[in-house]
Amino acid sequence: MSERLAADGIVMNFAGLRALDQVSLSLGRHEIVGLIGPNGSGKTTLVNVLAGALKPNAGSVRIDGEDVTAFPPRRIARHGLVRTFQTVRLFGTMSVFENVQLGALGAGLRRSKATTIANELIELFEIEDLRDVSSDALSYGQKRIVEILRSLATGCKYLLLDEPAAGLNEEESEHLLGQLTSIPEKFGCGLLIIDHDMNLIMRLCHRLHVLNQGKTIAEGTADEIRANPTVVEAYLGSQATAGADAAANPTAANPTAANHTVTERS
Ligand SMILES: Nc1ncnc2c1ncn2[C@@H]1O[C@H](COP(=O)(O)OP(=O)(O)OP(=O)(O)O)[C@@H](O)[C@H]1O
Ligand SMILES: [Mg+2]
Repeated sequence: MSERLAADGIVMNFAGLRALDQVSLSLGRHEIVGLIGPNGSGKTTLVNVLAGALKPNAGSVRIDGEDVTAFPPRRIARHGLVRTFQTVRLFGTMSVFENVQLGALGAGLRRSKATTIANELIELFEIEDLRDVSSDALSYGQKRIVEILRSLATGCKYLLLDEPAAGLNEEESEHLLGQLTSIPEKFGCGLLIIDHDMNLIMRLCHRLHVLNQGKTIAEGTADEIRANPTVVEAYLGSQATAGADAAANPTAANPTAANHTVTERS
């Protein structure tokens, strides 16, 4: 049985609006997939469907072959799928350590094991100096990292990140990029990442999936997506960073040119 998160033919209607129209997407445990598209194209809706918060009008979601479409979010989380939200959700009065430990406790681990995991994650992500700091006192970028650590502490197999770089400065985005890159290999946890920061997405993701008005308009590597005229017209043309990249890097317009900034799928 293949270990994959797989959505097949998802349709999601909201009172007269078809937010998702026959969308199929898959994510392995060792890959990073980017979900991109203009505002309102259905990205968050798809994450809500995958995580069980919304029940689709048609289509199915499978985790490692098991149909979880009808499962409530908590049960889907127990099957190894965890998501973060567009806005950070931490327990402000609790320390960084307590927030991360809570992820493991929430997944049913005993306190001693949860403590070990929280300490390991904090060490691995090199934020030991923040261990006992109240999460209220963290910068926005630090909160984002802690939120991701809390998710990883659950032992999840698939982690869906909705705009993790939103509100981060360039330095914080670079730091986040470095941390995220190693997650599939270190944790056997696949990442699905929504973000409008094309510089981050293009460098981080092994594959990209592009939505426009609820429909998949393209799938492929960063090079393929950058060179796809439909994507450029619907989305990338309006992205200042992508435009700057294309201007600075003429190979971006050539699908056959090598792009050494893109990590190839292992
Ligand atoms: N609960 C809801 N009820 C009605 N319409 C909704 C609901 N959630 C989303 N929509 C609509 O569905 C469409 C897709 O929204 P969604 O939030 O998935 O877009 P998005 O791609 O995440 O956009 P953004 O980049 O701005 O976050 C939009 O037209 C939105 O207004
Ligand atoms: Mg969204």
